[in-house]
Amino acid sequence: MNNYQKALEERKQQHLLRTLPLPPEGIDFYTNDYLGLAQSQSLSLAIEDECRNAPKLNGATGSRLLGGNSEYAEQVEQEIAEFHQAESALIYSSGYMANLGLISSLATKETTFICDELIHASLIDGVRLGHAKKIRFKHNDLEDFTDKLKKAEGQIIVLVESVYSMDGDICPLKEVADLCHKNESLLIVDEAHAFGVYGEDGEGLVQNLGLQDRVFARIMTFGKAPGIHGAAVVGPKWLKDYQINFSRSMIFSTAPSNHHFASIAAMYSHISKCVPDRNELKENVEYFVQKRKESNGQWIDSESQIQSLIVPGNKEVIDLAEKLKEVGINALPIRRPSVAEGKERIRFCLHSYNTKEEIDLLFKEL
Ligand SMILES: Cc1ncc(COP(=O)(O)O)c(C=O)c1O
Repeated sequence: MNNYQKALEERKQQHLLRTLPLPPEGIDFYTNDYLGLAQSQSLSLAIEDECRNAPKLNGATGSRLLGGNSEYAEQVEQEIAEFHQAESALIYSSGYMANLGLISSLATKETTFICDELIHASLIDGVRLGHAKKIRFKHNDLEDFTDKLKKAEGQIIVLVESVYSMDGDICPLKEVADLCHKNESLLIVDEAHAFGVYGEDGEGLVQNLGLQDRVFARIMTFGKAPGIHGAAVVGPKWLKDYQINFSRSMIFSTAPSNHHFASIAAMYSHISKCVPDRNELKENVEYFVQKRKESNGQWIDSESQIQSLIVPGNKEVIDLAEKLKEVGINALPIRRPSVAEGKERIRFCLHSYNTKEEIDLLFKEL
């Protein structure tokens, strides 16, 4: 057995082995399709329409810098920038690629990143690829954040998520933005789990709070509530120019196809119309929060569509997920190393299309 096979074997023994499951039948408390847009017939038709109108080219033929650019791509990015009240937008093939490219390009020797300890792996990997210093602060802890901000040197960049992907809780964005402003630091907000869900038009939490002029850059990912895939970095005009020059995941990769740009354009036209879906989701979240407050479990305090029940131990959390599956409830066990030891949990993702009966059944089974 070679070392790689041994690593696999170790994972198996520790109940950590990852496999690729096929989508299960039953109640959906696990996907990121918060508004049901991945399954939406009307979005599907809008994408088909937009594809028919888009310039005909099956693939981009190269990187955006080598023939893969087009007036169509630039027009879609202009629309995204306007939607998010930013000067510019740059599209990537995924949120992971956006974070990797953006963050690593900014990670020069003179930079210090101050990161919430729970930021997503894609942001962490971006920091790792660069030459910057990194300081972590306790999750959502403004006192610790202020302390770390005072100690940091050079060009300081703060990395947070508006809605945290594992805990589902919300960053105190206003306070963080004020402190960054006072300290002349740049604030980057990953809006992966807020885009589509927060704001009258689903613009995300930053705009919903009117903070767009205080935030340096936002990462809007398209694979969660928007129901498709891809991402855009929105921010000042010079940041787009900078990424075109220094973001390696963008420079050294084939550009998205026109089909992809078309699906993004159609999604942006569609998402502002999803007010009823956003309201249904909000009602389900309120109902769920009320039920969890009446229950005994060790719940993480979250007011968003991500709700987590702590079940310490990899085996224990898998057993509970299996037990739920037997009655048709699908929810993901989140194990070490995705979360810290003792913080293993079942993560329940709520959707506009969940019913009160489904939520009642879940709490009956827990
Ligand atoms: C907070 C956060 N940022 C970025 C990403 C990566 O986005 P994508 O799935 O589009 O690669 C994710 C995905 O899980 C995420 O949760």
